[in-house]
Amino acid sequence: MLKVDIITLFPDIFFGPFSESIVARAIDNGSLCVNTVDLRLFAEGKRRQVDDKPYGGGPGMLLMAEPVFKAVEALSSKNSKILLMTPQGRVFNQEMAGVLSNEKHLVIICGHYEGVDERIRESLVDMEVSIGDYVLTSGNLPAMVLVDAVTRLLPGVLGSETSVDEESFSDSTLLEYPQYTRPELYNGMKVPDVLLSGNHGEIAKWRLETAKRRTAERRPDLPADRGRG
Ligand code: ADE
Repeated sequence: MLKVDIITLFPDIFFGPFSESIVARAIDNGSLCVNTVDLRLFAEGKRRQVDDKPYGGGPGMLLMAEPVFKAVEALSSKNSKILLMTPQGRVFNQEMAGVLSNEKHLVIICGHYEGVDERIRESLVDMEVSIGDYVLTSGNLPAMVLVDAVTRLLPGVLGSETSVDEESFSDSTLLEYPQYTRPELYNGMKVPDVLLSGNHGEIAKWRLETAKRRTAERRPDLPADRGRG
């Protein structure tokens, strides 16, 4: 079972994505336990301030060190992995999802506003994670993306083990082959004969070839020397 604590200023926005479909089922069957924690609960004073102006001037507000340290200290133990969602982090990929799916406890800090006090990065966080080279308004959606990608790799979450193994990025080098379902003929577009042939050797060969071609066309940046048959 993977336990995830998400430290956020907007705990309620996680309700939708985590209450439907595969993630909700993973929570129901005990593969995943997710808890969203309001950072303001760890802030001091009547205003429960969580952000402040940067020293040295400049635009925007930064998440303050104290409430974030207090929240992480309250939630974590020595077996916890502390993540900060930020566009400055390592870019998330399937391999990282696989590594994180083997952890016991993730504490995810959702960055917000213009940034966070640097001492959070220096002394509190194990890994900074970005979900891509674009800037979102906060780390909340990135945290959802990470939890979703990790959840489907947890044992027992997907119906069949092969659906994880065969898909795009399972070896980080090959996109998935084209797939078709009924009917055989739709608006003049036909399913390739080989898929209807019942010849499993030929089907496997066709799938590997089309996957290789598709990968070379669409993602020439993926390494061509591994896992391509
Ligand atoms: N916060 C804002 N943009 C982000 C991104 N691309 N990845 C992770 N956290 C973010």
